[in-house]
Amino acid sequence: MSAPLLEITALQMRFQGITALKDVSFTMNTGAITALIGPNGAGKTTLFNCVTGMYTPTSGKVTFDGHDITALPAYRVSRYGIARTFQNLALFGGLSVLENLLVGAYQQGSSGLLQGALRTPKTRREQTASLAAAHEVLAFLGMEDTANVLPSELPYGRQKQVEFARALMQKARLVLLDEPMAGMSTSEKAAMSVLIRRVRERFGISFLLVEHDMPTIMEISDKIVVLDFGEKIAEGTAEQVQNDPAVIAAYLGTDHTAAV
Ligand SMILES: Nc1ncnc2c1ncn2[C@@H]1O[C@H](COP(=O)(O)OP(=O)(O)OP(=O)(O)O)[C@@H](O)[C@H]1O
Ligand SMILES: [Mg+2]
Repeated sequence: MSAPLLEITALQMRFQGITALKDVSFTMNTGAITALIGPNGAGKTTLFNCVTGMYTPTSGKVTFDGHDITALPAYRVSRYGIARTFQNLALFGGLSVLENLLVGAYQQGSSGLLQGALRTPKTRREQTASLAAAHEVLAFLGMEDTANVLPSELPYGRQKQVEFARALMQKARLVLLDEPMAGMSTSEKAAMSVLIRRVRERFGISFLLVEHDMPTIMEISDKIVVLDFGEKIAEGTAEQVQNDPAVIAAYLGTDHTAAV
């Protein structure tokens, strides 16, 4: 058996007075679509922040493709091939959709700032390649008509897709999606599910996603990990997790009617 793509071991994250993650462990294999669910405040975004280097975990270990990436800064984690989207849209409002995608590509380019300013042949080649890649991603997602508009001119669901597209520009092997379908209509959610699966099939990208909508989760994920108050309370298929008494208890009295 090959080693897991992502391995999270005994992860702890403590803020003053709050333990946001307590001894959380799970693994993800290459090509998996894993869902991370749990009531509000369960620690889902905190786990994303620990994996992507935005927070330094208090203790525990994160291994990606055999490399220990615990406590690496975000830019180094991204170089290993992990990209993410944010729970709240984080697009550049003054830039067009195409330019937002090129920012994603620029983060991955090897030419330094100075070369960028001097426009050496190497940077020109990289810029041409990035532009072609941006158009390819937009075409793949059926979004070419949005290339030259500002994200704010698009409906919310389309703006979420732009973030998704930008994450794909980073040539990542694992993409973390923090509530990619929040605020979307049922048909937009279905379209996004199809896109995620198509991207996995076409580019071999694995996904870890936080999502509240249970029908969507059941449809696209191979495995579900459930957090509650920072602890992993269940892990398994949609059916296993839905029938788990601890999961049912965690969701009782919360406003997540969509779950269980
Ligand atoms: N930077 C921080 N400083 C202090 N506390 C924090 C910080 N980030 C998160 N927390 C706390 O950690 C806990 C988990 O928060 P987190 O945002 O990870 O939850 P979540 O599962 O993503 O919730 P939601 O479904 O509402 O997005 C919460 O109690 C939150 O207040
Ligand atoms: Mg969150």
